[in-house]
Amino acid sequence: MRDSQATVRTLLTRAAAATLLALAAIPGAHAQQPKLKVGLMLPATGTFATVGTAISNGFRLAVAEQGGKFAGREIEFFTVDDESDPAKAPENANKLVKRDQVDVLVGTVHSGVAMGMAKVARDNNTLLIIPNAGADEITGPLCAPNIFRTSFTNWQPGYATGKMVAERKHRTVVTLAWKYAAGEQSVAGFKEAFEAGGGKVIKELTLPFPNVEFQPFLTEIAALKPDAVYVFFSGGGAVKFVKDYAAAGLKASIPLYAAGFLTDGTLEAQGDAAQGIMTVLHYADALDNPRNRTFRAAYNKAYKMDPDVFAVQGYDAAQLLDAGVTAVRGDMSRRADLVKAMETARIDSPRGPFVLSKAHNPVQDMYVRRVEGTDNKVIGIAIKGLADPARGCRL
Ligand code: PHB
Repeated sequence: MRDSQATVRTLLTRAAAATLLALAAIPGAHAQQPKLKVGLMLPATGTFATVGTAISNGFRLAVAEQGGKFAGREIEFFTVDDESDPAKAPENANKLVKRDQVDVLVGTVHSGVAMGMAKVARDNNTLLIIPNAGADEITGPLCAPNIFRTSFTNWQPGYATGKMVAERKHRTVVTLAWKYAAGEQSVAGFKEAFEAGGGKVIKELTLPFPNVEFQPFLTEIAALKPDAVYVFFSGGGAVKFVKDYAAAGLKASIPLYAAGFLTDGTLEAQGDAAQGIMTVLHYADALDNPRNRTFRAAYNKAYKMDPDVFAVQGYDAAQLLDAGVTAVRGDMSRRADLVKAMETARIDSPRGPFVLSKAHNPVQDMYVRRVEGTDNKVIGIAIKGLADPARGCRL
């Protein structure tokens, strides 16, 4: 009995050794790397649901293009629906960080939720990449070595739109936005450039997020008769606003301007009501560069729909992560080297190549676009290489 047991043991040991030898002969098969855990915290419900889906699609496309791996480590996704609810942000972010132990947190759309994520990321020293939310503070006074953004600050497109509207010789503007960080900061950026260019914001109207009862505001705008209107809305709310503005008969009499979120990912649903609207953003559907053309073709093939700015930002979040992970050959414990590689990366984006500012926010061109059919067509550049001033960031 004892002999045969010994024989079995010897055979097993030999078999194990043979397997190891065989594995060692396959390039890349030795040192099986653990999976790289990515926590996607995005809205899957509510007014920003389509925005969340586009970001997720873009991120996953970039991963798929790398064979599902960065530096040999297979990407494993953990997801949570953040419902664009800031009150639930700490709990949702902690599910990914503490329970799922993700290597990197990616999200989100809503500025208030992103502020909660940034706090969790700081408290736990977790790597965070923001693929949309523009909260100025995150790459301002709250900037941190472990926090990156591949989208914009709320100030950036607001400021660039304000410059464009002033150059179009409009003198008085009424603004309307959801009353939370994104709306307020977008309007503040707009006002800064518009008034520096000689214009005057005569009234700032707001409604709570995510309300879409626009009628009383449209009545007030009609009575105030400004030269133009500037708004911040996005997702489902943007679809309804553009339709309501046209239905109220205002589109013909008072030109409507916005940061480009108003008409991104929304044009199929907005239809005729959106035609001709001019916006400013760091992306445009028909941007004529080879990178954008191949990206749009691949996205279309994978998801049977057109990408938008949100898909681009998700795609670039994955590209930025890949740049870091590849530089440290998948060893996430080399945090300083990872951060350095991400800070100095030049992202080959469908929006055009961009680098990050010292505060970890894209320095990027702001395009003037006009809606034609289901495309935001580029008609000019409002500001080239616009960096957020990053007031209060000490990095
Ligand atoms: C934000 O809350 O920061 C936000 C949301 C939707 C957008 C842009 C910014 O389209």
